[in-house]
Amino acid sequence: MARDLGQQARKKIDNILATVLKDVKPTEAEMESATAYSNELMGRLKKVVPKDVEIISVGSVARGTQLRGSSDIDIFLLFPRGVAEASMERKGLEFAKRIVKRPEKYTIKYAEHPYLMITSNRSGLKADIVPAFKITDSSQRVTAVDRTQLHNVFVNQNLTRKQKDDVILLKAFLKSHNIYGAGARVEGFSGYLCELLIHHYGSFVDTISGFARAQPPMIISPSEKKEYNAKSCEGALLLKRFERKLIVLDPTDGNRNVAAVVTEESLARFTLISNMFLSNPSIDIFYGAGYSDIYSKRKLERIKKEMDLNMHVLYFKVPDIAEDIIWQQIRKLKNALESSLHKYGYTPALALENVGRKEAVIALFISSSHQGYSLVEGPSVFMHKSAERFIQAHSIELGTILRGDRINFMEQPKYKNPKQALEAALGQREILPSHIQRKYIKIYVNDVPESVAKLVYSEFTRKTTI
Ligand code: UTP
Ligand code: MN
Repeated sequence: MARDLGQQARKKIDNILATVLKDVKPTEAEMESATAYSNELMGRLKKVVPKDVEIISVGSVARGTQLRGSSDIDIFLLFPRGVAEASMERKGLEFAKRIVKRPEKYTIKYAEHPYLMITSNRSGLKADIVPAFKITDSSQRVTAVDRTQLHNVFVNQNLTRKQKDDVILLKAFLKSHNIYGAGARVEGFSGYLCELLIHHYGSFVDTISGFARAQPPMIISPSEKKEYNAKSCEGALLLKRFERKLIVLDPTDGNRNVAAVVTEESLARFTLISNMFLSNPSIDIFYGAGYSDIYSKRKLERIKKEMDLNMHVLYFKVPDIAEDIIWQQIRKLKNALESSLHKYGYTPALALENVGRKEAVIALFISSSHQGYSLVEGPSVFMHKSAERFIQAHSIELGTILRGDRINFMEQPKYKNPKQALEAALGQREILPSHIQRKYIKIYVNDVPESVAKLVYSEFTRKTTI
């Protein structure tokens, strides 16, 4: 379907996607720990539920389509349909609660019916334990979540590993542009919808090529790999039934439009970004510049590279005091550090500060080409007395240079690198404002965690976007 793309463009896109995939696909370790935790919880459940309740793992973790860092586990308890709905809900929660082991925590969540969310504080992994009815066909469905088990079967039977990687790419692409997820805030494309689109179009590139030239209304039947013309008899009927600009029929349930919550704006944005990426494929466009605050780390790395800068980030938890005071103190500290660094020969090209909910950052971008020496500017040769004094005072330095009539000394940098200079500056008591203590400051050089990168990047874009 991507027939418009020349071979060269195609190759370029493939390279970009391979790079992106390395960033957004969970690491082996993440996948292993998610699977291990999922298996452990299922093992515990097996000991407490009766034989006629089936335990299955569903959702993106079970299918291998989750984004890095969002390996949230979905486990379903499937009750036989003979059981009353109220009792299925009550028992489901009871069984789930029984397997929680301290220091794990649980919360009861409410969707159409209640389920339990367990948080493992060891790995930070979350697991939803959801009671539902065991069905083999959507016509047997009692609750809305009963379909999920059928989705699992469809995806696992119809998508190859390569296509699952393409699902991850599609999720990342949409998430970067804030249209991933079917929640009320985003009103975009759900995980299952992404899986269906990849199945229907075949690949990531074919999916975005399809949407790049979208002519809504679009009526897609992934199970038949068919698109209905809105003017055809069947198409018109489907349009009338679902009344949406994007209709994607659920292969497991023809009565459901999986894209029901996708707004016209989300659809339009998908078309827009698909066109932008295809006509000018680049990592920048894939991630979207500044629009969304995810993948900040990746974006910062790009900036650093382009500007040949090293990034030094001071990170600290802020005390529980008025936000205004925190901002004032952070700013004051940033200014003081900037002038100290300047003095030590490492003038930052850019310095910024940001305060989050419970933490703050000061980021200093410093040229990575080492200066070797710093210049000390002295008086004019013709100011005879002071020139003499200046020469005496600096007689042990590297040497003199005349710049015009002014004497300059080359001075050995006192500190080997900006980090050492920063540490020296922070060692001076008077530099620290009253609410900031040295022992709570962590210094990162270049490699920062995503949460820290977010604070830096959002301020960076605020500063650099006109
Ligand atoms: P999730 O919301 O966890 O989605 O629902 P996901 O597919 O695992 O995607 P990510 O990676 O977490 O974002 C788990 C499963 O529950 C079903 C779908 O089958 C989905 O894959 N589900 C979820 C629905 O049927 N309807 C919904 O509204 C939500
Ligand atoms: Mn999930």
